[in-house]
Amino acid sequence: MNNNMSLKFDAIAENESFARSVVAAFCVSCDPTVEKINDIKTAVSEAVTNCIIHGYENMANGQILIEAELSDDLLKVTISDNGKGIPDVKEALTDFYTTSKESDERSGLGFTIMKSFMDSLDVQSELGGGTTVTMTKRLK
Ligand SMILES: Nc1ncnc2c1ncn2[C@@H]1O[C@H](COP(=O)(O)OP(=O)(O)OP(=O)(O)O)[C@@H](O)[C@H]1O
Ligand SMILES: [Mg+2]
Repeated sequence: MNNNMSLKFDAIAENESFARSVVAAFCVSCDPTVEKINDIKTAVSEAVTNCIIHGYENMANGQILIEAELSDDLLKVTISDNGKGIPDVKEALTDFYTTSKESDERSGLGFTIMKSFMDSLDVQSELGGGTTVTMTKRLK
């Protein structure tokens, strides 16, 4: 079966749990294990948090778009912002790389978590033009 959905919402921390629950609910028709659902929720959370904190620098004036597609048992989810963008994506994907101040207690592991919890991770970004994270996962 093929199924698509999209969701656009304000880039505020209050919407993070809502966003991850929507993606999880979208996958239910594939009857995934609880473990897979939790992996997806965690990965979506990390991506959405990045849009809010890094993309829009907590300015609360931006929007986040999530698009998800199910092709049989394959989930593809893209999470995009129109924020500041990433100057060097390869560097940003490095384990423990963070541009946050030490006082913010960010570990620089968000992308690492997305990569390990999902089957694939792709990051496209343009300075000043925003960032799009695409992840896939087999649900069966
Ligand atoms: N949507 C985004 N817009 C702009 N920059 C981003 C975005 N997502 C990630 N980045 C950049 O990539 C870096 C690495 O992101 P990653 O999620 O791996 O770590 P972190 O967010 O700094 O820390 P953690 O996720 O462990 O709390 C960030 O510090 C930031 O500089
Ligand atoms: Mg992060």
